[in-house]
Amino acid sequence: MCGIIAYIGDQPALPRLVEGLRRMEYRGYDSAGVALVYEDSLWVRKDVGRVDNLARAVEGGPGALMGIAHTRWATHGGITQPNAHPHLDGEQRIAVVHNGIIENMNALKAQLQADGVVFRSETDTEIFAHLIRKHYTGDPREAVCAAVKHVRGTYGLAVMFADHPNVIVAARNGSPLVIGLGDGETILASDPQAIVAHTRRVIYLRDREVAVISRDGANVQLVDGSSVGHEIELLDNEYDLAEKGGFAHFMLKEIHEQSESIERALRGRIQVDDGNAKLGGLEMSPRDLRAVARVVCIGCGTSYHAGLTAALAIEDLARVPARAEIASEFRHRHPIVPPDAAFFAISQSGETADTLGAVQEVMLKGGDVHGVVNVVGSTIARTCGKGVYVYSGPEIAVASTKAFTSQVTALLVFTLMLARTRNLSFEQGQRVARHLVGVPDKVREYLADPGPISAAAELVANARYVQFLGRGYSYPVALEGALKLKEIAYIPCEGYPAGEMKHGPIAMLEEGTPVIMVAPRGSQRDKAISNLREVQARGAKVILVHSAGDDELRDMAEISIPVPQTAEFVSPLLTVIPLQLLSYEVALRLGRDIDKPRNLAKSVTVE
Ligand code: G6P
Repeated sequence: MCGIIAYIGDQPALPRLVEGLRRMEYRGYDSAGVALVYEDSLWVRKDVGRVDNLARAVEGGPGALMGIAHTRWATHGGITQPNAHPHLDGEQRIAVVHNGIIENMNALKAQLQADGVVFRSETDTEIFAHLIRKHYTGDPREAVCAAVKHVRGTYGLAVMFADHPNVIVAARNGSPLVIGLGDGETILASDPQAIVAHTRRVIYLRDREVAVISRDGANVQLVDGSSVGHEIELLDNEYDLAEKGGFAHFMLKEIHEQSESIERALRGRIQVDDGNAKLGGLEMSPRDLRAVARVVCIGCGTSYHAGLTAALAIEDLARVPARAEIASEFRHRHPIVPPDAAFFAISQSGETADTLGAVQEVMLKGGDVHGVVNVVGSTIARTCGKGVYVYSGPEIAVASTKAFTSQVTALLVFTLMLARTRNLSFEQGQRVARHLVGVPDKVREYLADPGPISAAAELVANARYVQFLGRGYSYPVALEGALKLKEIAYIPCEGYPAGEMKHGPIAMLEEGTPVIMVAPRGSQRDKAISNLREVQARGAKVILVHSAGDDELRDMAEISIPVPQTAEFVSPLLTVIPLQLLSYEVALRLGRDIDKPRNLAKSVTVE
């Protein structure tokens, strides 16, 4: 979603700003823009479309030493050039880039219009430019502080004044900003990925803080002027520059990284000899674990699917009631937050506004909430203050792959700990632990020979509609497979519990409809066979993901994709991979923009 980068230093700002925008492209956006302070005035270029277009348009631009830039993902107002950031005040002396949403936009806009302000865009952001102008009496910091006091909503802001070619003012409320402290230069960004090429020394701004940034560093205070202390932190190695490493797309690279990323999610956490596990960041003793009466996993999109998968394992192995909740539904329905429940907020980015909102709601009601997060230092991780990092490494493709398997893995580690405080014996614990540590090798084995993905992609690429079916542990996998195909190939499809399919979606089947059935060996396999026959009787062509060696099932389908056999509770970590590859292959055939699919954002920081 929207990205902010600002530069002030002893080098030309423009190339650094464009490079920063490129580093944030993966987040999803639809327009981009840049503003420089040059020869006592503002120089602004912005347009819809890719950063590449902007880069061409600003080639040979001024060698100014400071500037701000932005990638926009439309919320208020269409995808147009006037709506792209930066936005300026009426006199074109103040430039603003903004992430977030102004909730009292209408009231503020009406007041400004009554003062005679003429708006040039449909965005909420333009309000900041005019509001800051209204309160500007010569001091940039004071003007920004006075303006934000009138705003209800979320913002990450970078503001530049033509009168002040030596400072950029940043302000944060609910939308992340990090300041990189370089040598003779300071870089502000909404995403550490845009900073790491220049420096690892950073300050994470907190809510209600305002920073005055110069080439020598940053002066951070609260909006009300009171001082705050900030430790300089070092960006983790996980922020090493993301490169494709010989793969055609980040998504393909990330799919192929899954044996290592799952290994990282397990590393140092499983004690096979003790038949147990340990998650340091969780801050739960065996006594605390024993007191957990229920588990609630909260997330959006793929992270919600990871929660569904984990909830099944928690009930199955630990016999503790568990469920998954869609964060946007949970947070707004006045949820019940029992004091004896353990909540998990699952998020790759750690910035998803709905998941963060759910976390805040759980905390407000006195609940116990842990993050299951990939991005170290992200807002959800910080807000929860405890939890599990999944360590899948930077995930750049918008469609999540390796983060899903790492989230499931981390939650299975928790499941083992929880189960051992209850009905899982030492020997059973050892078995579960062995199954978990065996997963990375099985993933490696599968990826070395992924089966007839091309043939399956051929069938799916031309379809008008596709159905994904699974039962038990394979049901969330079916949902995730369908989500991937929608996200990157834009093919109408749905995931369904295989047994429920006959109560509606069966009507969608016609001669040749591709049905993707996930049916590894396990308690649900035989039931899946009946479903397979039901869909074939309606003319559907079945692409079957099954356990290697299950010859009976293999011979029933038009296309069969074997995955290494595993215990049922870890089977989603294997069966999801052919579905990721399938959607990738289909999108490739259809010429889609795989890493940056239309309309989507990697990190959805608005409701
Ligand atoms: C966006 C992405 C999805 C992702 C979801 C949750 O909608 O397009 O792919 O699953 O956000 O993201 P999170 O970072 O919280 O896991």
